Amino acid sequence: MIGVFDSGIGGLTVVRALRQDLPRHNILYFGDTARTPYGTKSPGTVIQYAIQDAEFLIQRGAQILVVGCNTASSVATDRLRERFDVPIFEVISPAVRMAVSEPKGKRVGIIGTRATVNSGVYEQKIRALRPDMKVYGAACPLLVPLVEEGWLKKGETRRIVKKYLHPLKLKQINVLILGCTHYPLLKEMIQAKIGKRVKIIDSSEALSRSVKDFLHDNPHMASNLGTEGTCKFFVSDVTDHFEKLARKILKSVGKLEHIKL
Ligand code: DGL
Repeated sequence: MIGVFDSGIGGLTVVRALRQDLPRHNILYFGDTARTPYGTKSPGTVIQYAIQDAEFLIQRGAQILVVGCNTASSVATDRLRERFDVPIFEVISPAVRMAVSEPKGKRVGIIGTRATVNSGVYEQKIRALRPDMKVYGAACPLLVPLVEEGWLKKGETRRIVKKYLHPLKLKQINVLILGCTHYPLLKEMIQAKIGKRVKIIDSSEALSRSVKDFLHDNPHMASNLGTEGTCKFFVSDVTDHFEKLARKILKSVGKLEHIKL
């Protein structure tokens, strides 16, 4: 099984991308809805939560681990790799590889939670591959609650998106990485505000493609992952609101099973 975890429900955008690219493989999802958001927490706390999330999925039979959450990917990946002996995928590197291969990409913008942007991980990875690129990060802390509120088309959201993107617009970026699980749901609005000429990279799609490539190169691993195309969803807290949001992201999520870590 492919185990995917996130701080909550936003990681279902990663599951959505995985289901599109790898519809036959079985997925186990854990959303830490009781402790969400991670993006406003310190690295130490996010690392502790990420280790518990990963432990849960591996105990339940995950043979591959996907860190669907950008915040956890930014601060906890190294610690997870030290601790767990399964292939671990995070959302940052695949998006970075796409950004550096953009022919017109000389100026890259990254939007994400405060923890992701403060970690500087996207910048480090981009500069390691392309020192000539200019990288600009912008934390957008209000976007997660707006998406969770379902305000995907509201004027208020549009104005806040515009305000957050303004500094990146002034830098005349030509590539923009959506470095947060929730932002793909605002992709059209973000594209409209940043301008048509800016190439938007959705980190969930980039990640899903890299898992697909890995399984293509490791057929033995792929054949052990289960091919019934099942998806099981676990959360650490269940509310009607989260169930509704989950259905907005992924049409059918079945029952969200409540577990205590
Ligand atoms: N999943 C988080 C991320 O991608 C967003 C929500 C949160 O702050 O926990 O960074």
